[in-house]
Amino acid sequence: AQRNAELRERLMQLKKERNAIILAHFYQRPEIQEVADYIGDSFGLAQKAKETDADVILFCGVHFMGESAKILNPQKTVIIPDERAGCPMADMVNVEGLRKLKAQHPNAKVVAYINTSADVKAETYICCTSSNAKRVIESIDSDEIIWVPDKNLGHYVSQFTDKKMIIWEGYCNTHDQLSVQDIMSLKAQHPNALVVVHPECRPEVVALADYVGSTTGILKYCRESSHKEFIIGTEDGTRYMLEKDSPDKTFIFASKYLVCPNMKVNNLKKCVEALENMKPEIYVPEDIADKARASLERMLAVAP
Ligand code: 13P
Ligand code: SF4
Repeated sequence: AQRNAELRERLMQLKKERNAIILAHFYQRPEIQEVADYIGDSFGLAQKAKETDADVILFCGVHFMGESAKILNPQKTVIIPDERAGCPMADMVNVEGLRKLKAQHPNAKVVAYINTSADVKAETYICCTSSNAKRVIESIDSDEIIWVPDKNLGHYVSQFTDKKMIIWEGYCNTHDQLSVQDIMSLKAQHPNALVVVHPECRPEVVALADYVGSTTGILKYCRESSHKEFIIGTEDGTRYMLEKDSPDKTFIFASKYLVCPNMKVNNLKKCVEALENMKPEIYVPEDIADKARASLERMLAVAP
């Protein structure tokens, strides 16, 4: 505790010196959420990164998030606590594979989940997040859509549209391992609990949910609900804000494996070191950034 207090103090000093803002995803460790200027889901974080007038953005999340911040606000210096914090789902699609699929479906428009690399975004018509995916699909003037990379989110949104969706086979290791069995046994133990899951979970798990949404959506739903007990099907980091928002409610995480090891690579000490040394810094080649920016800007124009 003593050590963390010292680190927090140093971080605040550095933040002032650098004119920096600290952005953090809800899956970050509580010690990071405690010091963040803004905590959000992927959509909120992209919006905040674009709007900030700070000189430096310390982005606490995974690599594609820092990259999106840099693309949306290229004048800023974007640093991250640890460059090893990637997203395995984002790595499941590459430019070569996507170009092949585009050649096979020349009339389709590409929708990429924000969980993709900058060069995949550069090959994309519009990005989306889990909070605006349905609206993004409807905003497109094409009946055929190539969807990358999350098959589970793709399946979820395909239920709400008549458009033909060609869905890539990627998935999130953390959410995809949650099983029907996990949910059913907890429902039996807690018959009054509502089931709340992220759409990166498998379709058969999503089918059991009372609410499906992004991390911000999940937090809002639990905060506003008159229910007292919830079975949560998203990453364990959300526990911090759920309990802070609603100290009188009970949150039962659906599996002990709902931990994203990539998000957990970051810690408070690495945040201090990053601001101290101004690295690791995110760079995106200008030609890629310009193309990727167009797909991100289109996404930001569609409300969550
Ligand atoms: P959201 O915060 O947008 O719901 O995304 C979840 C996620 O998996 C981020 O990697
Ligand atoms: Fe990627 Fe899943 Fe981790 Fe999000 S929770 S960063 S989608 S691996």
